[in-house]
Amino acid sequence: MTVFHLRAAGVSLVLDTRGTAARILHWGPGLGDHLPTEDPFVPAVPPSSIDVPLRLSLLPSLSEGWTGRPSLSAGEFRLIGAHSQDDNTVLVRHASADSTQEVTTELELSPQGVLRLRHRLANRGAGEIVLPCLDVLLPIPDEASELLDFTGLWSHERQPQRAPLRHGVWSRESRHGRPGHDDAFLMTAGEPGFGFRKGRVWAVHLAWSGDKRIWAERSALGYGVLGAGELLSPGQIGGEVRLAPGESYETPWLVAVFSDTGLDGLSDRLHPWIRAHSPARLPRPVVLNTWEAVYFDHDLGVLSDLADAAASVGVERFVLDDGWFAGRRDDKRALGDWYVDSSLWPEGLHPLIARVKKAGMDFGLWVEPEMISPDSALAAAHPDWILDGGTGPTWRRQRVLDLTKAHDYLLERLSALLTEYPIAFLKWDHNRDLLTSHSGRQTRALYRLLTSLRARFPHVEIESCASGGARIDLGILELVDRFWTSDTNDPLDRQSIQRWTGVLIPPEYLGGHLGAATAHVTGRTSALGLRLATALFGSAGIEWNLTAASESERLDIAAWITEHKRLRPLLHTGRVVRADSPDPAHLLHGVVAQDRTHAVFALVTLGTPRAALPPPIRLPGLDPDRLYTVRPIGVPPRTLQDAPPLWLAAGSATLTGRVLAEVGLPAPLLTPEQALLLELT
Ligand code: DGJ
Repeated sequence: MTVFHLRAAGVSLVLDTRGTAARILHWGPGLGDHLPTEDPFVPAVPPSSIDVPLRLSLLPSLSEGWTGRPSLSAGEFRLIGAHSQDDNTVLVRHASADSTQEVTTELELSPQGVLRLRHRLANRGAGEIVLPCLDVLLPIPDEASELLDFTGLWSHERQPQRAPLRHGVWSRESRHGRPGHDDAFLMTAGEPGFGFRKGRVWAVHLAWSGDKRIWAERSALGYGVLGAGELLSPGQIGGEVRLAPGESYETPWLVAVFSDTGLDGLSDRLHPWIRAHSPARLPRPVVLNTWEAVYFDHDLGVLSDLADAAASVGVERFVLDDGWFAGRRDDKRALGDWYVDSSLWPEGLHPLIARVKKAGMDFGLWVEPEMISPDSALAAAHPDWILDGGTGPTWRRQRVLDLTKAHDYLLERLSALLTEYPIAFLKWDHNRDLLTSHSGRQTRALYRLLTSLRARFPHVEIESCASGGARIDLGILELVDRFWTSDTNDPLDRQSIQRWTGVLIPPEYLGGHLGAATAHVTGRTSALGLRLATALFGSAGIEWNLTAASESERLDIAAWITEHKRLRPLLHTGRVVRADSPDPAHLLHGVVAQDRTHAVFALVTLGTPRAALPPPIRLPGLDPDRLYTVRPIGVPPRTLQDAPPLWLAAGSATLTGRVLAEVGLPAPLLTPEQALLLELT
């Protein structure tokens, strides 16, 4: 066999299939054309070790001397075949010594330099195989000694955490039956001190919406790895996956990225790849979602006024949130009974939808199909459809519907709604952890349901929402169009949540809404300018009772929507850039057009700056040799200064990209919790 060299966009993957097992010799910076013909990679044999050089295979395990966390728990696998399907895809096959198990590994390097890997294990024997784990591992070099991953809680998703990668395993396991608010999200290892714009980094994400583990390991043996896989036996003895003869198990894709320009370099590969792989339907319509406007107070008159108010400021999609279906008066009941409540809606949703349509908007509807309330008619009719028989605690007073049993019912009910009503968008919610050992089965059944629904209604967009952002992953993104990023609309919290979620997910997939002045979740009051600037960049919307907004607020909102519509072709196709700031009170982020002719930046003050004069606004990612005119746009932020910087007093400045990046423009003295938006042409 041979050495495969996959190359794209400055990334190389070298896979050696000449021995008894396939080995990744290199994953990282591009290596150019020359590949050694000899094998200079064979390492020394240390004292007190196995008597042959230790080299990590694609399926590292005890049988080859790897005492770190293995890929596959049992047995010795030998290479039986490898071939490339095209320039950037290789299929490798290993078999167990007794040939009863065969593992096929698919490796694929995209034109953007994004690597994907997955294994498929087939039972070729006569007996059952119980599979406790099958994980995908990738080697990382010794310089990758600092880790970044994420944690969080409801309304505080994707909080970054950093630590040195010492000897041992740093493993994050999700047993939520969804990635969870504390999802590790993107396990990143880099050279110490890496930031948004600097440093070499290697990162992996598991494209999977169920239980999983994702880890980094540095072994005293001398190797480092990043690994991930579905958590197959989350606390249960015996394992979840049992393969009968002829059956096979396929792992989720491990998505892996390398960058030598920090975290923005990861986004520079991931965003174009995601855009090519699961394209968003552009332009993203501006949404009004009724949740924080009315909660469960569903009244045709109130909602019609809200729809008119939404249309008058330029909203394009009106989404009716929770509370419309039979018996749903609060969040304690009725999940599963997906029939329009006839006492609230005697003529169905038709009058509201007619009003929405007449106002020029399309209509979206909230659903939570995977759940069931114990007091619902569905639970009375099908008690056996409750996952795990309804044992364990309820959560938000609800239980989980076993999708392997309820698939046809849900498909029929959702199809009936989508057929009766002109619904353009489903907000698909999921408000509890599963707390089951059947997360894998349930997740596959969910994917199947979404696939069937999309095949029937390809024009209907779906949003993945899970108590905010507890299910944001590249597995479900193959089947949805938008993520609800978080339940908090507090702009300060949103700045951080969106910044970090956006390392992986491009902005057009991330719902960000303008909330009321006093955020419902935090009780914190924020200026309209900061709220608008925060919701400008993503898939924008409103989550506020606009009928209670003042006339001047409505004018500002209408102007903001006009600006968003003008800028969204840039915001939703451009390169996302984020500056590293030594002062935690300052955040700078922006989007630069792919041809670098146009850009929008936001300078945000989270708190009180450290110095009387804040650092200059240095704008990354521009064309160094191009002249840009920088102008403020949007609602002017509050400042406290005796005189503004000269260029702002003059209204604009024209400088090269190089000067803007290296010297920067003097910043105005924004008071805390303000945002200055800048447009560059
Ligand atoms: C949780 C979601 O994240 C909210 O936006 C809202 O849809 C509620 N569920 C409704 O119950």
